[in-house]
Order: sequence, then C-alpha cells, then structure tokens
Amino acid sequence: MSREEKLKELHRRKEAALAGGGPERIEKQHQAGKLTARERLNVLLDPGSFTEMDMLVTHRCTDFGMEKQKLPGDGVVIGHGTIEGRPVYIFAYDFTSLGGSLSVTNAQKICKVMDLAVKMGVPLVSLNDSGGARIQEGVDSLAGYADIFLRNVLASGVIPQVTAIMGPCAGGAVYSPALMDFVVMVKGTSYMFVTGPDVVKTVLQEEVTFEELGGAMTHNSASGVAHFAADSEEECLLTIRELLSFLPQNNVGSPPWRQPTDDPQRMEEGLNTLVPENPNKPYDMKELIRLVVDDRYFFEVQEHLAQNVIVGFARLDGHPVGIVANQPMVLAGCLDINSSIKAARFIRFCDCFNIPIITLQDVPGYLPGMAQEHGGIIKHGAKLLFAYGEATVPKLTVITRKSYGGAYCVMGSKHMRADYNLAYPSAEIAVMGPEGAVNILYRRELAKATDVEAFRAERVKEFKDKFANPYVAAEKGYIDEVIEPKETRPKLIRALKILANKRDTNPPKKHGNIPL
Ligand code: HXC
Repeated sequence: MSREEKLKELHRRKEAALAGGGPERIEKQHQAGKLTARERLNVLLDPGSFTEMDMLVTHRCTDFGMEKQKLPGDGVVIGHGTIEGRPVYIFAYDFTSLGGSLSVTNAQKICKVMDLAVKMGVPLVSLNDSGGARIQEGVDSLAGYADIFLRNVLASGVIPQVTAIMGPCAGGAVYSPALMDFVVMVKGTSYMFVTGPDVVKTVLQEEVTFEELGGAMTHNSASGVAHFAADSEEECLLTIRELLSFLPQNNVGSPPWRQPTDDPQRMEEGLNTLVPENPNKPYDMKELIRLVVDDRYFFEVQEHLAQNVIVGFARLDGHPVGIVANQPMVLAGCLDINSSIKAARFIRFCDCFNIPIITLQDVPGYLPGMAQEHGGIIKHGAKLLFAYGEATVPKLTVITRKSYGGAYCVMGSKHMRADYNLAYPSAEIAVMGPEGAVNILYRRELAKATDVEAFRAERVKEFKDKFANPYVAAEKGYIDEVIEPKETRPKLIRALKILANKRDTNPPKKHGNIPL
C-alpha cells in the first residue's frame, strides 16, 4: 500500500466509525426527538475539545450471525474533552449502533475510560441511551455490566460521577447511573426501570405506561433516583455543564473559585422582615437563600422531591457551597423519610468533595404518624444524623426560626461538629413547641383547671418567654452568635474565610455503617 493509500484507508475507517449506525438509524433517532451520541458531545463539551478513543473497536461475537453486523465503535463513544476549560472523561452510548446495547467490547471501552478518569482525578460523565445487555452476547454482556458497576463503586467519592439518561435505560443499564452522584433525565424521551411495562403486565397484570413507570418526573418527584428533569436534550447537557462548575475535579481538589461580582459585605434589609413574627406563618426559604448568596443565584438539586427540605449549590464570594435548608412552606418544614434521605445524600456528596455545607434551619421536628414510623423514619432520620456527624468539611448553620427537638440536634448543631452556629433573634430553640410542651408538663393541672384555655394560654406564654428564643442556647455556647438577619451574607462569608483551611478527621476505620 502506498503512503497515500494508507492515509485513505485511515480516513475510510474513521469515516465509517463516525457514521454510527448509518443515515437511516440516525434519521430514526432524530425523529424520536433525540440527538446522536456525537451530537450530544458537541453540546456538552467546549467546542473542538473532544478527543475520541477506541473508535475503531469492534465486537468479537460470532453467535446469531453477529459477525455480519460489525460497526466500528460498537455502540459507545468514549474519550475526553473539556467543560469550561476543565477536563472530563466521557462515555456516550450510541443508540444508532445496535441500540447502544452493551457488549463485552464496549464494556471494555467504558472500563478503560473509567480507569483513566480515576487515575487522572478527572470527573466522569456518561450519556445513556441503550437497550441494555446485548442479548446476543449473553453472560459476557452481564460480566461487562458488573465490571462497570465495580468501577462506579470504587470511583465513588474519588471523582464526581454525573450521568444523563437520554433514552431507554432498562435492566443493567440503570445500575451504573444509580451508583453515580447525579442523574439528569430528559422529559418525554428518557426512561429508567429494572423491568419494563411488558414484564409488569405479564407478572402483575398491571397496565402502566413507560412514562408512569420510569419517566423523568417519576424519578424526580417520586422515586428520588434522579436529581434533575430537563425539558430538552440540550437543557440536560447544559445542566451537566453547570453542575460541574460547582465541583472540584476530585476528592483532593478544591471546588473552583469564580471571580465574584456581588459585594461580600452586602447587607440585606429584606432579611430583617422575611421571617414572619407569627411562628405559624410560612415563608419561602428559597427567597432567604437567594438574598444571601452571590448574585441571588441558587442551583437547586432534586427540586421536585421532598420539597420540605431544599438542597443545592450556590456561591459565597465566589466559593461554591452546598446549601441544606428546611422549607416552612411545605409540611411546615418538618423532616420526614424522603427529606432525610435527600439531605443526607447531598451532605455526603459535599463532604466527599470538600464543599462547605451551609444549613438554614427552621424545623418544628420530625413528622409524626403511622406512615412515617412504619416506613422507618427512625432509620432514615438517623441517616441525616450520620451524614452531618461524619462530615468534616466546614459546616455553618443559621437558625432562622424553629429548632425543636431531635431536629435541633440533627440539622448541623454544634454537637454535630458544626463550626459556626448562628441564630436570628426570631429563633426558637427548645425540646418542643410551646403548645406540645405545656400539654405534657401540665397534664394534671389542665385536667383540673376551671378555665382550661386561659390556664393553657398563660402557661404557653410563660414557656414562650422562657424558651422560644435563641438566648438560652447562646448562653450555653451552643450558638456562637445571635445576628441581625440582614448580616447573614457578610457573616457567612467571613466564617468561610477562617474555615478555609479546616482540617478535621474521623477515627481510622474501614468505613462507617450508615443505617441503610
Ligand atoms: C441487542 C438490541 C438490544 C439489545 C435494542 N437492540 N436492544 N440489540 N441487544 N438489548 C437493537 C434492536 O434490535 C434494533 O436493531 C435497534 O437496537 C433499535 O431497537 P428498537 O427496538 O428498534 O428501538 P425502540 O423501538 O426505540 O425500542 C428501544 C427499546 C427496545 C425499548 C430499548 O429495543 C427494547 O426493549 N430492547 C430490549 C431491552 C432489554 O430488555 N434489554 C435487556 C435488559 S436485561 P435494528 O437492527 O433493528 O436497528 C439487562 C440485564 C443486565 O440489561 C443486568 C445486570 C445487572
């Protein structure tokens, strides 16, 4: 072969790989409202930054006539590129090529890129659009999945792992995403389930749609498997770009600082009146967050799930922080099973990746009732305790109003090793709310009282005067400072500065045993 012919051969091979499953299947993909794997990478990555690897790899299966169905790349595109100038490793299933199904060879490609991501300390992004295990390859395909799952587990807490679901994801294809840190789904075109509607019908005689069983909103608002629901593929990919802008490259890196445009000394008069004087009146904690953080910008995570707790990222003087806040507008801000799990997982993520945790607390306690107790609120509530207790990143807590009972202990209290505990003058820090306390403390007197309501009102007032304030806790040093609400932003920024070099550790151990 002449030099010219050799170059031609190279180009021919590369072009064949770039053609994916061919024009017909690409057209089908577009008609389904989906982009191809490479088109997705063009949106996700900085222009021109993608370097593809293993594009000439083919499968080695000879069963079911598969030797006649060889496509270079074999249904997955892997490589690296940059997002806002910072490197990421990627694997993107190509649905146009054998339905993006998982073969031994494409599992090997995926494992290669996962190993590189861990070795280089670079985030891993996966774009899923796959029919699952390649049926023709049988157990080899299952082995491929297990190899990927193991790497997801070992990479957890070492590098951020982010995944987008951009098509069907069934069987084995859901577990790699489930092991990663954040799952973004596209409304209307992405699905995740262990077994699809057909199996559900056969086994349970139940009719369900793809959407009901495993659509984007199902996993964002009901199961909690997903963290974001995007309206389009483009929005999904841009969400990943934005998410990564808050995260360090790995567990020994610092979250990326961004030149702030907001004044670190900004006092926010509106905060002084945001919390209503009547403790039974709700207010929007998201508004409080926006008034405090840089440019009023809050990047919420799992906004559709357990809305009684709010989690997400923001910046304070350019430094990324994780925010965990009770939402008095939903269930009065009570903690329940779902909100405990949601907040605990977020806190553990922040702790893995050196992101300080800011807790904004207004919580009347854990939600009472049979459903919660039978559902294991004790065990799930303990997850939140565990997460706060083991976290060694800077922890800052602001009590805006209610801080009752176990919720006081859990939500970033001094006793959970929080570094800086603030309270507003409106804070009420006590074992329980005044009404509940009076009913228990004065049960006998209430039974005998001639004017029960007057007696009760008197005792409630007494209790409120004595305990429904931040000063009992402040006198004991459980609160470092009682502040005017308008000072929240400068106070937190100043505290973050002094905590920047915080070093704290847990006792040496293999790993803790979080109550699962
Ligand atoms: C081989 C597959 C495939 C698979 C799809 N294809 N899934 N090839 N193995 N698992 C091929 C199809 O034959 C077709 O090839 C092309 O991909 C596109 O598929 P369509 O069915 O035409 O597309 P669509 O109508 O959009 O339906 C998509 C789908 C459906 C819902 C994903 O293909 C499907 O149900 N596939 C099977 C899903 C599944 O049960 N997977 C196994 C899960 S078990 P042509 O040549 O016609 O274009 C599993 C176990 C792992 O994963 C457990 C580990 C713990």
